Amino acid sequence: MSHNIHLIAAARPNFMKIAPLYHALVNEDWCKVSIIHTGQHYDANMSDDIFADLMLPEPHFHLGVGGGTHAEQVGKVMMAYEDICLNIERPDLLIVVGDVNSTAACAQVATKLHIKVAHLEAGLRSGDRSMPEEINRLVTDAICDYLWTPSPDADENLKNEGHPDSRIIRVGNIMMDSYELLSDKINAENAPAKYGLENQDYGVVTLHRPANVDDPIILKTLIDGLVENSKKLKLIFAIHPRTRKSLELNNYWQDFQSHENLILIEPISYVPFMSLVKSAKLIITDSGGIQEETTYLDIPCLTLRDNTERPITITEGTNRLVKPSELSECVDQVLAGKWVHGTKPKNWDGHTAERIKDIINNLFKK
Ligand code: UD1
Repeated sequence: MSHNIHLIAAARPNFMKIAPLYHALVNEDWCKVSIIHTGQHYDANMSDDIFADLMLPEPHFHLGVGGGTHAEQVGKVMMAYEDICLNIERPDLLIVVGDVNSTAACAQVATKLHIKVAHLEAGLRSGDRSMPEEINRLVTDAICDYLWTPSPDADENLKNEGHPDSRIIRVGNIMMDSYELLSDKINAENAPAKYGLENQDYGVVTLHRPANVDDPIILKTLIDGLVENSKKLKLIFAIHPRTRKSLELNNYWQDFQSHENLILIEPISYVPFMSLVKSAKLIITDSGGIQEETTYLDIPCLTLRDNTERPITITEGTNRLVKPSELSECVDQVLAGKWVHGTKPKNWDGHTAERIKDIINNLFKK
């Protein structure tokens, strides 16, 4: 008997988490796997191009919700996904990934319809409830049937919140599966040359967290820091739509574009982006996923945040939390060859999707 599985794609960071699972499951005769794209991210460079890079098909269902306030986005996703489950295709298992609004929204819909739900990347906690993602993590983990974690700290967080051991399974980090799946293409891409950059002679920047980019004063401090540090090392900054909007709204955009060693680009797809990251001297970011990818690739990661839900990237990897006032000193440390080298955490090995496939198969046999 074939079982229906739904995978929720929604926003950019989810796509690299569902792709390995989709590829692992698509040819199995015991399941039928469908991708549901909520449309939280909709620009080609935030969505379609990345689907193509990850060799994903057109989504089987597209909810087309677009942007909006949190409540609008969550509400629209819930209504649209409920309609699919009730009237078009009820899954036997829903898999939600990461911590975006669509993750928590779809998990709620399915749980209330008594559909089994698994959360992949369960248990991560920043302890910072001012982050929308932290609320999404708490809500999702509280209601999911299966909690698939990437690291021991995630297991501990869940146990401390009272989740029974029987729900928690450490599966590893699925992001590394995507990297391994596409490593030949990433190696062949040579993205630095396309931007006139030489290997190891530039840094990559991404910033999009509301706490960093929505407040004009904080944003100005950060971009001033980037301008200053670009005098020491060329920086290439792939600018998220949220950040671009804030730069324009606050009239910073014009001036910010005028610095020789600061290359501003639109968001780019997965393969070229990882090609840039792989050969960079350092990364400056507030992303979650990039903290993990840099640990995997042993590249210095300067995370412009007060906390992280991925502490293993600090204890075992190459990541450090950096205050804006410390940025220059940290860049100097990297340039002087004084940054820590890390190790790859256990089960960040490119085989997470295979492990999950076996877990799901066993679930359906029960
Ligand atoms: C979302 C996730 C965040 C994740 C990030 C990665 C939540 C709460 N946040 O934040 O965890 O790290 O994605 O990118 O789910 N926009 C576009 N084009 C797009 C997508 C968004 O122009 O394709 C605009 C939106 O209209 C909005 C802004 O960018 O004005 C922010 O988008 P939104 O999806 O609300 O949140 P992100 O900041 O992208």
